[in-house]
Amino acid sequence: MEDQHINKTLRIAVLISGSGSNLQALLDAIEARHLPGVEIALVISNKANAFGLQRALKHKVPALYLPWRTREEWERRVVDLLQLFQVDVIVLAGFMRIISADFITRYPERIINLHPALIPDGGKGDTYTTSDGSLIPVFRGMHAPLQALEAGVRVTGSTVHYVVPEVDAGPPICRREVPIEAGDTEDTLQERIKKVEHQLIVEAVKIHQQRV
Ligand code: GRF
Repeated sequence: MEDQHINKTLRIAVLISGSGSNLQALLDAIEARHLPGVEIALVISNKANAFGLQRALKHKVPALYLPWRTREEWERRVVDLLQLFQVDVIVLAGFMRIISADFITRYPERIINLHPALIPDGGKGDTYTTSDGSLIPVFRGMHAPLQALEAGVRVTGSTVHYVVPEVDAGPPICRREVPIEAGDTEDTLQERIKKVEHQLIVEAVKIHQQRV
């Protein structure tokens, strides 16, 4: 991947494993001309039945199913594809595999992840201070909305951040709080977080585009 130059289109590869509603948010924003100078060069899924593949094809975006046999082989193929499709930045949008430190360090500040919890400035640390001043734990890894419910916090949220080798610990690009409501279940909370994420991911790509 190369550094961007003035007026050059920012070409994104989106990696998915499932529904791809955040991919859809990017596709819609591009179609509505809310992201001038951005295009999705390629969508890669490690699952054959990921609905996100259909979403990409509907928008005439190249979409590939790349089965995950070993991490090494998968990453080697992705590196080749990124070069072939002249990708500038990777967005992990519901991609459910952990990628290696080798792969990550190859693309510093060129891999963006969406995480359904609040990550502090700089990415590290075990606590986050919410806008009402309360200190909450940082929920990393799988089932972050469920972790928030189980911890009994009043507010959680979502963060778009650059990927570093430590999981869900990279510097945030943008994030937003989502209040927890009485009676929330993992599903209802996850759905409300996703609605926020659909705006956040577009915002994060815009911010990244302005930086490079
Ligand atoms: C999002 O909630 C994201 O935070 C998490 O996985 C979910 C992906 O949803 N990493 P979708 O596939 O984009 O609908």
